Amino acid sequence: MTPSSIEPGVSGTKQVPGTSPYTLGKELHTPSDTGQWWRRAVIYQIYPRSFKDSTGSGMGDLAGITAELPKIATLGVDAIWLSPFFDSPQRDAGYDVSDYRSVDPLFGTLDDAQNLIDTAAGHGIKTIIDIVPNHCSNEHALFKAALAAAPGSAERAMFHFADGTGVGGNTPPNNWSSLFGGPGWTRITESDGSPGQYYFHLFDATQPDFNWRNPAVEAEFEATLRFWLDRGAGGFRIDVAHAMFKKEGMPDWHGAPDGTPTPGFPFAEAPMYGQPELHTVFARWREICEQYPGEPVLCSEANARPLTRLADWVAPGQMHQSFNFDYLRTLWDRDALAAVIGESLAAFDTVGAPTTWVLSNHDVSRHATRFGLDGVALDLGDGIGPRDPQPDEELGQARARAATLFMLGLPGGAYLYQGEELGLGDHTTLEDRYRQDPGFLRTNGAKTGRDGCRIPLPWVHDAPAAGFSPTGESWLPQPAGWAGFSRDLQEEDPASTLNLYRRALGLRSELGLGLGSLAFYTNPALPEVLAIRNGDTVNVLNLSGTAVPLPRGELLLCSDAAGTADAAAGWLGPNSAAWLRTLEAAGDAAGDEENV
Ligand code: NOJ
Repeated sequence: MTPSSIEPGVSGTKQVPGTSPYTLGKELHTPSDTGQWWRRAVIYQIYPRSFKDSTGSGMGDLAGITAELPKIATLGVDAIWLSPFFDSPQRDAGYDVSDYRSVDPLFGTLDDAQNLIDTAAGHGIKTIIDIVPNHCSNEHALFKAALAAAPGSAERAMFHFADGTGVGGNTPPNNWSSLFGGPGWTRITESDGSPGQYYFHLFDATQPDFNWRNPAVEAEFEATLRFWLDRGAGGFRIDVAHAMFKKEGMPDWHGAPDGTPTPGFPFAEAPMYGQPELHTVFARWREICEQYPGEPVLCSEANARPLTRLADWVAPGQMHQSFNFDYLRTLWDRDALAAVIGESLAAFDTVGAPTTWVLSNHDVSRHATRFGLDGVALDLGDGIGPRDPQPDEELGQARARAATLFMLGLPGGAYLYQGEELGLGDHTTLEDRYRQDPGFLRTNGAKTGRDGCRIPLPWVHDAPAAGFSPTGESWLPQPAGWAGFSRDLQEEDPASTLNLYRRALGLRSELGLGLGSLAFYTNPALPEVLAIRNGDTVNVLNLSGTAVPLPRGELLLCSDAAGTADAAAGWLGPNSAAWLRTLEAAGDAAGDEENV
């Protein structure tokens, strides 16, 4: 029986006179009952540089990850996604790949990669590989060959080479910009020493874009996918998937460089994104994945809008998942969150795909930092630096725990970013001299960039570099107080963020929340409370600064350990979330009657 309204207060222990009831709306999403693992998967992102350094070089490595897999397994995630570890000059932290079928010596060897994949599989964890098909490094053999070859050659046709326009060909072929700042075109010097053609790069000048209209490019990437699938990969995260094809003729564009809709310039018209040819490639990749056991998954990293556009790429026979960046971008605002949840489910349900939920990754300030800064809208590529207003750390952490608990109670898949289970925020006072992000370097510091969310993890509170590396080396310095977040301290503390994540992930799986349903509650008296029902679980997020009455139910988990007793008595503290079992599910016949 589904109650249409639930009185506040748990089992009558603490009645709240005069508070209006939580009224249940209609189901916006019904359970998916397929056995496909990726529909409900929780995938943990590992940023290899910053996870664990086994050699003392100051750079995390694959052996370090493998050694810590048992700890990851205790979290209860389905898969790990590894950011690129391939050969690379590291001009964009590995997203500038010079050989897709190798391991950069910084991170280890191919044997180390195999060992990692096999060991993870032994823990029941799939390994998702990050493929970067839009561009490679300017040190990739194919680009070097293109530079050495003549204009118009087959080698140049692997990339977007074009003559300049105007006097002496001194003007780039079109007006496109780099997403890291500055022009999108770089002019080369031909082998005879004369000023030559330009090549296009959506990102840094060291990251030339492939020409996906050339079938030879497709063949290259098919071979790469098979290379990793043959080694047991559980799937792929596809970097800037929506940018792979450029509109024929590459016409000028006067909208936002990243396609963010502006008046007169909708995303759908941006000539560097969302071209129809993507469908053919995605369908071919799906076919390839389906030739392998274990349902390898394809997840599209596409910062595209609106959500309905993303859904096109996860329609049947296309990719399995797409990151939901609209959710990540949403501020600490009840109505905005409710809207994005509703829109996400509507968009993805139309094509029968799961929604994925994500709050943090290596491209944007962590949610513990973002939520400590009221009203500051940050997008991918953005960070907080020493010249910015600084976040309220305690508030950010409380909200981050609440936001995560609430997110993990939503139906669909979820992505976690290493370190969020420790409650980490960014290094928000990192000095400029340490910064390596091309987004910072190409804008002469006008953009803070992403280094602050990529700081090496703290493992042991009283070890050098908080246990990140045996020598205390660390490729980016850790901020003061980092050791206080160390995993060893949190292991011991039942109230830690780490233990909250473990309990939440365990319950999520036990209660089948990932494959569950969704209906919103409304309660006009509590405009800053977001409450949903997923199966027999009520999931409540209090975005306000005061305690609020919970709906009736049996408390399962509260994001604030110190607020648990109050939550069990019917009151949810400020900036907190709680999961409750409905009274009828808890077998409380009296509650059952009262609830209807
Ligand atoms: C998205 C990746 O997540 C980001 O880190 C990278 O800089 C760009 N794509 C370019 O590959």
